[in-house]
Amino acid sequence: MQIILIAAVAKNKVIGKDNQLIWKLSADLKRFKNLTSGHFVLMGRKTFDSLGRLLPNRTHLIISRDPDYQAPENHFSFRSIEDAIIFCNKIEVDRLFIIGGGQIYQEAMPICDRLEITEVEAEPDGDTFFPQIDPDKWKETEREEFPADEKNEFPYAFVTYEKH
Ligand SMILES: NC(=O)c1ccc[n+]([C@@H]2O[C@H](COP(=O)([O-])OP(=O)(O)OC[C@H]3O[C@@H](n4cnc5c(N)ncnc54)[C@H](OP(=O)(O)O)[C@@H]3O)[C@@H](O)[C@H]2O)c1
Repeated sequence: MQIILIAAVAKNKVIGKDNQLIWKLSADLKRFKNLTSGHFVLMGRKTFDSLGRLLPNRTHLIISRDPDYQAPENHFSFRSIEDAIIFCNKIEVDRLFIIGGGQIYQEAMPICDRLEITEVEAEPDGDTFFPQIDPDKWKETEREEFPADEKNEFPYAFVTYEKH
């Protein structure tokens, strides 16, 4: 199974505030949809709450320490990332996307094969941060840069990292 982390990260590493996203970047949402559609997406319970709905055409794996937490029908909850990975291996998932938030990125980064980062050219206020990408462990393999426009309020870059 390939494990891919996908995140949009500001220059100051901020990824969220008050359990919400903090920018309008339509190209990022489109890329997220293109990459993750048809696949399994793993997230923390807070990120699932912040979505406020199920993402169409994706199977949701929601991580919570609450033993009573129940995922919606046909989706799954787990007490740990490890339990979710065991489940995915058992049912032979080919590609799993780690979609946040801060706690889950921090914990899951070591087991990921690839990082798909949208670098956002902004330094917003925030309360949730992306972990450091260790250059000894990760190398940048692709980068595409774009200016701001009417649908994207900041310049941004799609950057892929793979393990050394
Ligand atoms: N920019 C981006 O790409 C992006 C992507 C996703 C999210 N976000 C932002 O990130 C923020 C949310 O991130 P967050 O760090 O606050 O929360 P989070 O990582 O989404 O979820 C944290 C929750 O996950 C559960 N959890 C975490 N580690 C666990 C473990 N080891 N075992 C069992 N359960 C575990 C706990 O749920 P319980 O409390 O239920 O036990 C914990 O409260 C929001 O602002 C959101 O908008 C940004």
